[in-house]
Amino acid sequence: MVKINHLGIIVDGNGRWAKEKGLSRSEGHKAGAEALRKIILYLSHEKLVNYLSLYVFSTENFARPEEEVNYLMDLFLKWFTTVKKEYRKENIKIYFSGRKEYLKPNIIEAMDTLERETENNDGLVVNFCLSYGGRAEIVDATKTIVKKVQNNEISFDDINEDLFSKNLSHNLPDVDFLIRTSGEQRISNFMLWQISYAELYFPKVYFPDFDPEELEKAFQEYESRDRRFGKVK
Ligand code: FPP
Repeated sequence: MVKINHLGIIVDGNGRWAKEKGLSRSEGHKAGAEALRKIILYLSHEKLVNYLSLYVFSTENFARPEEEVNYLMDLFLKWFTTVKKEYRKENIKIYFSGRKEYLKPNIIEAMDTLERETENNDGLVVNFCLSYGGRAEIVDATKTIVKKVQNNEISFDDINEDLFSKNLSHNLPDVDFLIRTSGEQRISNFMLWQISYAELYFPKVYFPDFDPEELEKAFQEYESRDRRFGKVK
């Protein structure tokens, strides 16, 4: 199978998956978390991607009912604590992107610990976009750059696309392939800078059913795309 440098996934459809089965939304998220665990391990074992960015919680998601937000935060907290050992063994490096200041101290601590304890790993990089918004990331990078100019660390003329990318959350490469599960065809403020030339794919399957077989189909789809980056071949 073709290797993808940076794969992005917008996790979507946990709620509808649960509704169709007569289950609660929480059960949908639980099933989504299990599906995600398998996807990450599969991508890591098969060495199919170098970078994986996952949109798991947007800044807008805080407007969901309090009960659902609390359930998700508890799920994240438990998850980040339990996967620690596995990710150290699997050589997976974890990053988080997003506004940590909106999150509770216990979850920030679990996130910081996971980042710190996997920082020397050099296998698959998994970037969780949590409390994340693409526009906010661009605004934050702009502020960082302006500050550097004010402090004479860089000059106004140094500002270019490359420098801008380096000042985003983690200086990640551009996203090559973006998958949004559940059939919705929207970007919803996900990595707006990094997806400029990404190929987009919208499988109908809800995220809890997005398994390695579905991922293989996605890779086949990617392989069939003709990426021209605005040029003529
Ligand atoms: C999308 O489905 C899911 C979310 C916004 C919640 C977060 C994702 C997970 C629980 C997956 C596991 C992640 C981790 C880090 C454990 P939705 O609720 O928007 O579905 P709907 O559109 O059908 O209602």
